[in-house]
Amino acid sequence: MEKKNLKFHIIRLIKILYKIYKLFYLKKKIIKLRKIINSYNYRYYILNNSNILDYQYDKLLTQLIKLENLYPYLQDKYSPTQLVGAKYKSFVFFKKKNHKIPMLSLNNVFNENDLFKKFFFPINKIINKSSFCCELKFDGIAINLLYKNGYLVSAITRGDGIIGENITQNILQIKNIPHILKGKNLPKILEIRGEIFITKKNFKLLNQKKLNQNKLFSNTRSAVLGILKLNKNINKKIFNLFNFLSYGIGFINKNFFLNQQEILKKLKYYGIPTCKHTKIYSSYYKIVNFYKYFKKNRHLLPYNIDGIVIKINNIKKQNIFGYTNHAPKWAIAYKFPSQEKLTLLKKVNFQIGRTGILTPIANFNTVNINGVNISFATLYNINEIKRLNLKIGDNIVIQRCGDVIPKITNVIISKKSIKKRKNILIPKICPSCNSILKKKKNNILYCTSELFCKAQLKAYLKHFISRNAINISFIGEKLIDKLVDKDLIKNSVDLLNLNNFTLSKVENLGNKSIKKILKFLKKKQKVTFNKFLFSLGIPEIGIVTSNIISFFFKTLEDFLNTNLIKLQNITSIGEKTSLNILNYIKKKHNINIIQNLLKKIDIIYPNNISEKNFFYQKKIVITGKLKFITRHNLVNQLMILGAIINTNISKKTNILIVGINPSSKLLKAIKFNIKIINENKIIYLLNQINNFEKY
Ligand code: IVH
Repeated sequence: MEKKNLKFHIIRLIKILYKIYKLFYLKKKIIKLRKIINSYNYRYYILNNSNILDYQYDKLLTQLIKLENLYPYLQDKYSPTQLVGAKYKSFVFFKKKNHKIPMLSLNNVFNENDLFKKFFFPINKIINKSSFCCELKFDGIAINLLYKNGYLVSAITRGDGIIGENITQNILQIKNIPHILKGKNLPKILEIRGEIFITKKNFKLLNQKKLNQNKLFSNTRSAVLGILKLNKNINKKIFNLFNFLSYGIGFINKNFFLNQQEILKKLKYYGIPTCKHTKIYSSYYKIVNFYKYFKKNRHLLPYNIDGIVIKINNIKKQNIFGYTNHAPKWAIAYKFPSQEKLTLLKKVNFQIGRTGILTPIANFNTVNINGVNISFATLYNINEIKRLNLKIGDNIVIQRCGDVIPKITNVIISKKSIKKRKNILIPKICPSCNSILKKKKNNILYCTSELFCKAQLKAYLKHFISRNAINISFIGEKLIDKLVDKDLIKNSVDLLNLNNFTLSKVENLGNKSIKKILKFLKKKQKVTFNKFLFSLGIPEIGIVTSNIISFFFKTLEDFLNTNLIKLQNITSIGEKTSLNILNYIKKKHNINIIQNLLKKIDIIYPNNISEKNFFYQKKIVITGKLKFITRHNLVNQLMILGAIINTNISKKTNILIVGINPSSKLLKAIKFNIKIINENKIIYLLNQINNFEKY
């Protein structure tokens, strides 16, 4: 009996020991898994450089979720399953959450007089010498990120300044917001404040790609706001288009900092994106010059700004001035003049675009916005006329959307103008080829004649010669118009086969120009595979999709023999795009055109670039004005040779190409001992390669 008992106890003990061992082992495994996933997250979200495939990452995360569900006592609220897991949940949105300290706004001034009167004068009365931190005022949506022990736990919109909306799930998708802070001695609790925004480039992509449930946004700020509000059934990838820049902090458990500059430096050290254009000045004139510089050059920035922000740098001095109910007294926003102008709609013309869609163009009395005269704007399609309830004689508000494209954002109907309004007559036949227009499901009108319609042919040929396609700069858009109007060319092959006889029939085209064009067309054009695909003008195949396709298919032949399954295997290519491609390659006429194009074009495939050429895999930066070659052409040629073109100099840069009036990049290159090449030398080297080496 005793023996039996002993055996029973031993077995129990072994079982308990095994359980303890298993727990210990599992805990170690969970910690290890969390560490691995965190390091992948770090690479993905902070370095923007993922080194794991999605399905492998999912496998690791599922493993961790399983283990944590089996042993709930090993769960941890800072585990990556609690943060990045959100990637796989649907978007939950709009739950209210308090800020730890209020998120205030800024007082604005719009001219130098007010800047002095309302900001510098009261400050100078109390403290005689102070330095100011001058920052850009990012035009996005304010956000408050809460980090506990370095882990991102929530992201809240500004709301009423006290309570905002919890949009953590969406914010986790933004690549440059770290889920975990870098560095040592991290504060236990830290609120980081900044702005989420969309770059001008991504804004264009957004409006083109219709990722946004077919909504067209009029400016970058409304795009961010609109997308955050779309929420339901939204394509998660849309948040990849967003960016974040921080301008300061809110609550912090210890008081670490002496001045604003130090805060921004520390944030950078933590891996938080901050703006590189921030400057510290004590001189009033330098501050005003900072404003003037960015007012003039803001179009060069990749994102929109609506002014500058001037802050007393020293935090003790900031506290002397304190806050009003809604804004600090130690900071001011010095805003740029409004980008909107009011004018009168004179008439609406109708054009047919490359895809056959009828596009209304609004003509109005000329307005000047930021130094540019504008007298017309596209209305995209006829639905826009209805949406705006637009009529001839209306007072309209013009905005330069995304800082560039003019757009009618509003119609102001006054009692005075209401009687004079005249309906806009929508055409029933194509204004170019007179064929009867058809209606799409969404009421958009289009011409079905494809390249038999001269307007569509002209638009296509302009696309064909454009920079991102074949890149033929010797044939201008006006020449294309003339050639098509005179029935001298019917397709892209005719364009590449232009001869003296045809060209001499074009009015006002001198012998010199003809010679130039023919000399250029005599050579076979070298075009990278992605650009060739783009040049075909397949509906919905933009340059981004062309890039993706060019990496997926090794050769053009592979691409032409593709099928629906293969196409749908390419991430980010949907069914509609796949069908457009199949539709295109199914048509004999298109294959015929491609075959004839290949007689005049050499396609360069990514893996066909000779590794022996001097520029292969070299990291190259260009500075200054070029005299003999356009920058775009140079970049294009270097890329064909496999060079990597960067915008900023770093120690890793191999070559700096220098033109006239180089920037400080030249000094940096000298400091880092980087090879410097001038324009003449680069042209010489490129010519040598073009003559002696086959790509
Ligand atoms: S500081 C307590 N700095 O502008 C003062 N704000 O119009 C906090 N903004 O709500 C603001 N760029 O969202 C500051 N460099 C910058 C900014 C900036 C954009 C936004 C911010 C603020 C709004 C006020």
